[in-house]
Amino acid sequence: MNRRQVLSRLAVGAALFSAPTPGAFARAASLPEPGLLSRDPEGYWTRVRQEQFLLPHDRIFLNNGSLGVTPKPVLRAMTNYLERAAAMEMDDAPRWGYETLDAEREEMAEFLGCHKDELAFTHNCTEAMSTIANGLDLQPSDEVILTNQEHAGGTMCWRVQEKRRGLRMRQVGIPVTPKDPSEITDRLISAIGPRTRVLSFSGITTTTGLVLPVKQICSAAREKGVISVVDGAHMDGQIPVNLSDLGCDYFAGSPHKWMFAPAGCGFLYGRDGALDRLWPSIVSSRWDDKENLKAARFMMVGTNNRAIFEGMMAGLRFLKHLGQANIYTRLQYLASLAIRLARQRNYLELVSSDDPRCYQAIVKIRFKPENVQPVLDALKKNKIVFLGGREIRLSAHVHTRPGDIEKFFAVCDRALGA
Ligand SMILES: Cc1ncc(COP(=O)(O)O)c(C=O)c1O
Repeated sequence: MNRRQVLSRLAVGAALFSAPTPGAFARAASLPEPGLLSRDPEGYWTRVRQEQFLLPHDRIFLNNGSLGVTPKPVLRAMTNYLERAAAMEMDDAPRWGYETLDAEREEMAEFLGCHKDELAFTHNCTEAMSTIANGLDLQPSDEVILTNQEHAGGTMCWRVQEKRRGLRMRQVGIPVTPKDPSEITDRLISAIGPRTRVLSFSGITTTTGLVLPVKQICSAAREKGVISVVDGAHMDGQIPVNLSDLGCDYFAGSPHKWMFAPAGCGFLYGRDGALDRLWPSIVSSRWDDKENLKAARFMMVGTNNRAIFEGMMAGLRFLKHLGQANIYTRLQYLASLAIRLARQRNYLELVSSDDPRCYQAIVKIRFKPENVQPVLDALKKNKIVFLGGREIRLSAHVHTRPGDIEKFFAVCDRALGA
């Protein structure tokens, strides 16, 4: 296919995915017909990869946990918006940073199971976590409990408060392969002491992909009068998320990982009333207009690129069109394949849990041999993208073919002479 043909195919996708009207989206016939999924799931997902992504046939991308691959409709929604903005087609200034983006927040809130007034768009999860940690009125010697498996974005936001305001930060060890998810709840809740004000933890850990029992933890924290902050970077798009039902006080999301959003998209959730208590960190006019702006107070951050949020909304529609349940089933199928293949190799240890209640799309393995350089070189030569070294984190998404995972292990076998 030449460049013009590619562009014209993208243009069709854009017309279907970027328009905010539901009717326009319903015409998105460019996905394979749903019946194919039940008749021939591999045929269906192969076509999704070929027709909806720009990934070349020989590229194997197994690091969606860091940043997802942008699908064509999302790309086109962004370029479309940029072109319209450059042509000054809209009457408003084509940007975000001073807008409340009500329609977009409404649509996203519906997907996340909350109200738009509880939801602000940010640039990533780190920004949302820092906004929470910096915005709470905590006193010196108040304690914040974290797990020992947090990402830097969910840790350093508290560390800076510890250094600056004398807050006490305590990391509590949680099991990587719990016998039962309730073990994690028990560990965290029993660690709460008289000075504990906040419990801040990942819903799915970055280290091993462990899925935590978020609802149980938040409910037990609330019973003890402790604020719950969920670093949900790996949750939205990887597992079903209903924020009201989860019962957390605050949640930070990263739709550019699992929700097909382009890089630079995040969100901050605070349950009804919780965002009112938060001081914003980046401010412009209307930063204090709690009554009218509600969560949108946290979006008054100065001029930004609106096109990425157009892309984020196109990603959300793409996800909904593929079907949440179909995606979640596929992700766990791919992860379980990786677990099975890892278990068959005696040069590997499975680090992450193989209890279906505790994993979803992320699998962590460890090589027993110390020198893994030949493996890393071979994987690179075979155009396989992953995260790690002697320990490797595999995170597949719907564009991943089962053959990609098989190839990953076959390349490891050959490199180690196994
Ligand atoms: C658990 C967790 N929290 C936060 C982040 C940071 O996300 P972002 O890059 O969207 O700020 C990551 C990124 O990998 C993560 O895994």
